[in-house]
Parts: sequence; structure tokens; C-alpha cells
Amino acid sequence: MQKLIINGGNPLRGSVRVSGGKNSSLATITAACLAKGVSVLENVPHCRDVLVLKQILETLGVRIELKAGRMTIDARPLYATSAPYELCRQMRASFYTAGLLLARMRRAEVPLPGGCVIGARPVDFHLRGFAALGATVVTEHGFVRAEAKRLVGTNFFVPRSSVGTTINLMIAATLAEGTTVLENAAREPEVVDTAVFLSLMGAHIKGAGTDAITIEGVEELHGASYAIIPDRLEAGSYLIAAAATGGDLLVEQMIPEHIGALLTKFEEAGAEVERRTDGVRVSARKRLKAVNADTAPYPGFATDLHPPFAALMTVAEGRSVIRETIFESRFGYVDELRRMNADIKVEGDAAVINGIPKLTGAPVEAPDLRAGAAVVIAALAAEGTSEISGVANVDRGYEDLEAKLTALGGDVKRVREPEPPQAQEKAG
Ligand code: EPZ
Repeated sequence: MQKLIINGGNPLRGSVRVSGGKNSSLATITAACLAKGVSVLENVPHCRDVLVLKQILETLGVRIELKAGRMTIDARPLYATSAPYELCRQMRASFYTAGLLLARMRRAEVPLPGGCVIGARPVDFHLRGFAALGATVVTEHGFVRAEAKRLVGTNFFVPRSSVGTTINLMIAATLAEGTTVLENAAREPEVVDTAVFLSLMGAHIKGAGTDAITIEGVEELHGASYAIIPDRLEAGSYLIAAAATGGDLLVEQMIPEHIGALLTKFEEAGAEVERRTDGVRVSARKRLKAVNADTAPYPGFATDLHPPFAALMTVAEGRSVIRETIFESRFGYVDELRRMNADIKVEGDAAVINGIPKLTGAPVEAPDLRAGAAVVIAALAAEGTSEISGVANVDRGYEDLEAKLTALGGDVKRVREPEPPQAQEKAG
């Protein structure tokens, strides 16, 4: 059990290099296991979700090494068809192993996934897609069992442009017979990244980045080398933190278009934004104005940036409404920010915020990954000290968080929290 102790009030200044995309890595690492070969991925973040996925794939027989952002994946020895419950329940993206095993082994037994508690998050769209590819799919005792003698290309309309469904079906369809067309496909950069990597592995994929992706199945894929795109959500979170603390930050080596909707919101709020070819600089010389935002699939305002942006709005001037359209309950951060004096409430599918000049430090919790980022941002902007528990949730997706923040002038320390007495007794 670890805590972050943050003494707020320091503006974040300087430059930071973000890590490789967490969500991109989870998809491409799984995709690499389709090959009876060895792949090398560069720019892989050393964050908890990646390490959990590594363990899941290792239990399937895959040999994986991760050193200084380079992951070597030898998928030749993959032999198992059943993914472990204890690991899969920790992470939504573990369900990509269903597409992988179905494609490569024609059989998959995968637990219903866990992950951030931000809504019901069923996997029904994925399962309908597997069935459309010709698999027999049964869910019982908390596991999805899918089997297919042959996978056959199909036309499938991806409900709600689901990112995970698009990626899982792209993975499964690469080794199917014939052509699959995914209509209403997700257009997120992580989908494109996965498609580019799969193409380097020998897959035939067209249209990634549009809402119609065509996959012509091939018999076999080979290993490939690829560098994962920079993490747009980490980049966005740091820029928001800089804006919330009245700072001036350059995020280097990122793709500005990947957070275009956020940059527009910064401008509306009165921050200065400089888009460079491979970086973005945001500075907030004066208090920002409140602006509204509605989350939407890419290229709209990313749902993963909703909690961090709401934290910024708690110290903006005026009233803002942040409407969540992707997940039903992405408001875990609201009660935590209220402990810091924020004037924020949930009304239906929106957070309604009346900005105040300063938050005050408090003991708070990181309830899930992006809500945790929101709490960290609020603590950096607040007057006084905040103690943030549940840091493991933030570690799922932010590599070297305190080192990066400290280098930018944040006063952040990580401490080990004593186990509560009950847990100690149990452990004993
Ligand atoms: C991915 O989740 C990301 N996770 C999420 O990031 C991100 O918030 C989300 O896409 C939207 O951009 C990973 O990439 C690992 P969806 P995913 O399928 O694929 C519903 C983070 O913080 N739905 O696009 O799970 C679903 O409940 C994480 O890094 C079904 O009903 O999202 C949601 O309301 C959190 N049935 C909507 O569709 C299904 O079978 C869109 O979800 C699938 C989805």
C-alpha cells in the first residue's frame, strides 16, 4: 500500500517526455502473440497494466522480456487456451486474449475482465463479433468460452464505435478465412497503431483511422519490430496539470493532433497553446475561464481526459459542465475533489462545477486510473498538503509519475502506507 504526499501550489514548468501509449501497448503486445515468431516493441511503458498483461501472456506460454522500454515477445511457445482469472480480473484489456486465442488456437477460455469501475462495461459487443466470425460462444461461471473450427470473414457493425471491440475483432479477423469489414469502427489512434503493427506482421488491413476497416485474412503472421505511439492521455494529463497550477509546460515528442479537442478547450479557457510538429506547449499565465466539454469518441474530447479536465475546471473562473457520454459512472473523482473544497456535483450524466480560486489539500483517494490523475492534479494545484491513497490505480497507466512531476517542480513524494490492523492480522 503506497501513498503520494503532495505539497501543492508549485506551478509545473519545463519539459517532459511522455511514455509510449499504455492502451496502444496493451493491444499491440497482444497482437504480437498472433505470430509464430518474435516481435520487438519499442517505447513500451513500464506501468502496472503492461506488467499484468505480460504475466497473463506468460501464463499462456509466451516468452517476454521488458527492458528500458523495449519489449521482446517470443510468441512461438504459446500453447495454452485458457487465461488466468486472478490476473484478467484486474484489467479490461485482458479480454484481447480472447481474440488472440480464438484466432491462433481456435479456442479461448477467458474470464470476464475487470478494470476501472467506471460503468457496467460488458463484453457483449466483442462476443457478438466473435459469433459473427463463426465462433460458438458461451459464457458460464464467469468465463467466456469461444471455439471455432474455422473463422470466416464477415461484415460487422461495431456498436457505439467500441474501441475494445474494434481491436479485438481486428486481432481475431487477421487469421480468418476471407474478408471482414468492421463498420462504425473506432477511429482512436490506438486502433490505428494496432493496425499498423499488424500490417508489419503481414496482416492485410485497410481503413484503420476511418469508420470502415477491412481485414483480409491471411494464413500466418510473422514477428515484426515497431515503436508504440506516445501516450496521448498521459500527455493530456500533464498539460492539464500545468494549466491547473498556472505553469508552462512543453510535452515533447508527442502527436498534437491526438489531443486536438483538448487543445481547443485550453484555448477557449484562455491558455496559450503552441502546437509544434512533435510537441505541444501550454502555458496559463492567468486563471483560466470555465468551459464546458462533452466527451465523445475520437477525435472528440476523450473520456479518459474528463476527470483530469474536471479537476482543472474546479479552479477556473465560472461554471462549467462536463458531460460524460461514453461511460455511465465516471464520476469517482467528484467526492474526492469535494474533500479539497471543490464546488462540484453530479447532475445526471454531467459534472457541474463552480470554479473557486484555490483548492485546499486533504487526505484523498485515487478511486480509479483517470480519477486518480484528477486527484493528483487537484493536489498539485491546491494550497497545502494532500495525502493520496490508492496510488496503485494511478500506477496502472502513468510511468514514473513522481519522478516526472518532481522534475517539473512539483513537490511529490511516495511513501509506504502501514497496512490497516485487520490486514496485518490476516497476513500474519
Ligand atoms: C477503451 O476501453 C480504453 N481502454 C479506455 O481507457 C477508454 O476510456 C475507452 O476505450 C473509450 O475511449 C483500453 O484501451 C484498454 P469501449 P474500452 O469498448 O475498449 C460499452 C483508460 O483509462 N460497451 O470503447 O473498454 C462500454 O461500456 C481506459 O485508459 C458495451 O456495452 O471502451 C462503453 O460504455 C479506461 N459492450 C462504450 O461501449 C461491449 O462489449 C464504449 O466502450 C463493449 C463496450
